[in-house]
Amino acid sequence: MPPLGDFEATLQAATGRLTLTPSPVTILWVSYLEYDRTRRDMTRHSGQPIPRDSNLYGATMIHRISVLLALCLTLFPFWTGSAVPSSPQGKDMIKKEAFGKTPGGKPVELYTLKNKHGMEVRAMTYGGAIVSIRVPDKKGHFDDVVLGFDKADDYTSKVPYFGAIIGRYGNRIAKGKFTLDGKEYTLPLNDGPNSLHGGDKGFDKVVWEAEPFEKPDEVGVVFKHTSPDGDEGYPGNLKVTVTYTLNDKNELIFEYHATTDKATPVNLTNHTYFNLAGDGQRDVLGHELLLNADTFTPVNKTLIPTGKIVSVKGTPLDFTKPMVVGARIDQKDDQLIFGRGYDHNFVLNRKDKGLTLAARVYEPTTGRVMEVYTTEPAVQFYSGNFLDGTLTGKQGHVYKVRYGFCLETQHYPDSPNEPSFPSTILRPGQTYHSTTVYKFSTR
Ligand code: GLA
Repeated sequence: MPPLGDFEATLQAATGRLTLTPSPVTILWVSYLEYDRTRRDMTRHSGQPIPRDSNLYGATMIHRISVLLALCLTLFPFWTGSAVPSSPQGKDMIKKEAFGKTPGGKPVELYTLKNKHGMEVRAMTYGGAIVSIRVPDKKGHFDDVVLGFDKADDYTSKVPYFGAIIGRYGNRIAKGKFTLDGKEYTLPLNDGPNSLHGGDKGFDKVVWEAEPFEKPDEVGVVFKHTSPDGDEGYPGNLKVTVTYTLNDKNELIFEYHATTDKATPVNLTNHTYFNLAGDGQRDVLGHELLLNADTFTPVNKTLIPTGKIVSVKGTPLDFTKPMVVGARIDQKDDQLIFGRGYDHNFVLNRKDKGLTLAARVYEPTTGRVMEVYTTEPAVQFYSGNFLDGTLTGKQGHVYKVRYGFCLETQHYPDSPNEPSFPSTILRPGQTYHSTTVYKFSTR
């Protein structure tokens, strides 16, 4: 887009960045017609042309032109529905660039997706991780609402799953053991006595193949990875695709597919840390959270579900009405003590198998709202309790305890060992399919 002229810039400032601003040419053209009409009117009334230098002529013209300009400025926002800020490009786009290398020397690529409103999502091939999400606040000011780092190398050291695709099994499997079709499998123990997020080298630590795509009103990337038979102890060659789509409704959509040649547990999710206040500069305790969950799966002190499904009523885990995250987080409640805050699997209230609201988060100082919809039966709400100020992220910001939160849509933790939980076993001939939508807006 060419640089804005002063006139258009003033108009944009006055009207809050319109989707369609009246162009200076339109206004000049309307003004010329008005000028011509004034001349003709005056000629008609007096029988002879009014000289251009007469006071009456000048005053009438200025009056009419200002009325017209004022009308344009007032009405255009309504005609154009300009509550939505426009992208500098005004259209969807996608860009690919180099983003460093893994310690093994594998190049990592970064994809930037942008929609026509200017919302921007960056994702890289290492871990298929979301690196940044830039969305406007209620005043139209864009900020990055995701914790992360400036280059791929920073993600390859000990970083707790920032932005990454999690698999083969999101969350914990007790003691790293499960039995399937009579055979016992052993997984790496990487979280005390348990196996967490796919083991030592889960899907967050591999370089994914990527294929960008563009469609009318949306852009995206398809990430692909094949996890070989025996990978981190899991059986079967598992072919996974995760499609990231950014559309013009300010929705970021994750669509997961997988197939296998041997029965295996699968539980895929995304581990983005959000801070809707922007740029990860303070804790998330002031965010207001609603979870569409009347029940949750309580855990023992190693964060393994007890197998029960319990009502949230009367507990600090009741987010069925919007509640400030920090209001009860330090209460002397066993569940909060075990998790060092919130780190729990909430069972979603759902009527059917389709997309259902899982969570709505509102950040009062910026007015940003994020809604999460999913086809999964549950969501892990994690309040960033293990962040401890040892990581310095984008723009030199230090990520301290509870500076970010995750909403990981998922099947329940430790399902392979809990026959009463919905099954996570994928068999040959079946296709794993789940969808999660993160939708951004302001209030
Ligand atoms: C998940 C777990 C947490 C923690 C984080 C990563 O959300 O449930 O307990 O391990 O990942 O630090």
